[in-house]
Amino acid sequence: MACSSMVKLNSAASSWIGGQQSFNQRSGSACRLPSCHVSVIRAGSYADELVQTAKSIASPGRGILAIDESNATCGKRLASIGLDNTETNRQAYRQLLLTTPGLGGYISGAILFEETLYQSTTDGKNFVDCLRDENIVPGIKVDKGLVPLPGSNNESWCQGLDGLASRSAEYYKQGARFAKWRTVVSIPCGPSALAVKEAAWGLARYAAISQDNGLVPIVEPEILLDGDHPIERTLEVAEQVWSEVFYYLAENNVVFEGILLKPSMVTPGAEHKEKALPETIAKYTLTMLKRRVPPAVPGIMFLSGGQSEVEATLNLNAMNQSPNPWHVSFSYARALQNSVLKTWQGRPENVEAAQKALLIRAKANSLAQLGKYSAEGEGADAKKGMFVKGYTY
Ligand code: 13P
Repeated sequence: MACSSMVKLNSAASSWIGGQQSFNQRSGSACRLPSCHVSVIRAGSYADELVQTAKSIASPGRGILAIDESNATCGKRLASIGLDNTETNRQAYRQLLLTTPGLGGYISGAILFEETLYQSTTDGKNFVDCLRDENIVPGIKVDKGLVPLPGSNNESWCQGLDGLASRSAEYYKQGARFAKWRTVVSIPCGPSALAVKEAAWGLARYAAISQDNGLVPIVEPEILLDGDHPIERTLEVAEQVWSEVFYYLAENNVVFEGILLKPSMVTPGAEHKEKALPETIAKYTLTMLKRRVPPAVPGIMFLSGGQSEVEATLNLNAMNQSPNPWHVSFSYARALQNSVLKTWQGRPENVEAAQKALLIRAKANSLAQLGKYSAEGEGADAKKGMFVKGYTY
């Protein structure tokens, strides 16, 4: 058999698999094996860098601050404190968050919306530089949002693959080093086999394109909290979704050492009659992850999905009571921002207090990443759930 499929790997791509080359490659010789089965590992010239970026985001006691709300969703956040959705107000809010002194002690990455990636503080300092000064890796939301999925049971699919390679290359030039693509799966709507396959395939294509352009992809099939189903049903759907996601990630030659996951925790549906304890949520979630996620993946960065700030932190803490094969941490938006917004109220004189509120939440989640958090002394506001039925991000 001719060796037409012989693939040349660069040294970077082969070096980080621990010296054990997983492909049939002999120096200076053409393939002499009877069958030319080659296990291809691609991530172009960025392989080493992707692994390093993922590792630095998945570093002990740190997690991700997600502030990648689209302009429309950021408008909802601002409206909750009576502010108009103007560029100036969005900039003021993001400036408050991204210039919080000491944030890098607890936060390793920040996911930005495109507008923020190219924005500066009112003093003219790029937000990207504000992050770098705190040793926080800048990230970028690259998906183009959800639209109805024809032929499904009222489900949706995530747009954004067209032009993604060139956009990603531009984001890299601007300083982004990781990316996020959020698609959703709805349990009450099925989920249909079509919706799950579309979600998994889209995530895998996005992940391959991101890696090819130097961005560590965060893989996020959010299984929505909506529904009155028990926790066992969530476990079943989560296992189904993640098995398809990994199937297509592998099929697209995505380098597992250079990705991060952003799963939902395995909980009962938000309208289920009983709430689950953090220990139960941790048990189900870790069972699911251990069954589906290879240890090559460096980090699991949970979304908060409408849980209260304290709930999200307690659940993360419960998951870190014994060692895990991966760094288990947070990538919260609502569960890091809620107290901040309430404290700020859009008033310049409240900026310092709001930054302190952010540090309190960031530190709480940092402790939870280390399994050392206690909810003692947490205020009533931080315990209020934020679930919104049919929430769009
Ligand atoms: P939440 O933590 O609010 O669920 O945010 C999800 C998300 O994808 C933000 O990037």
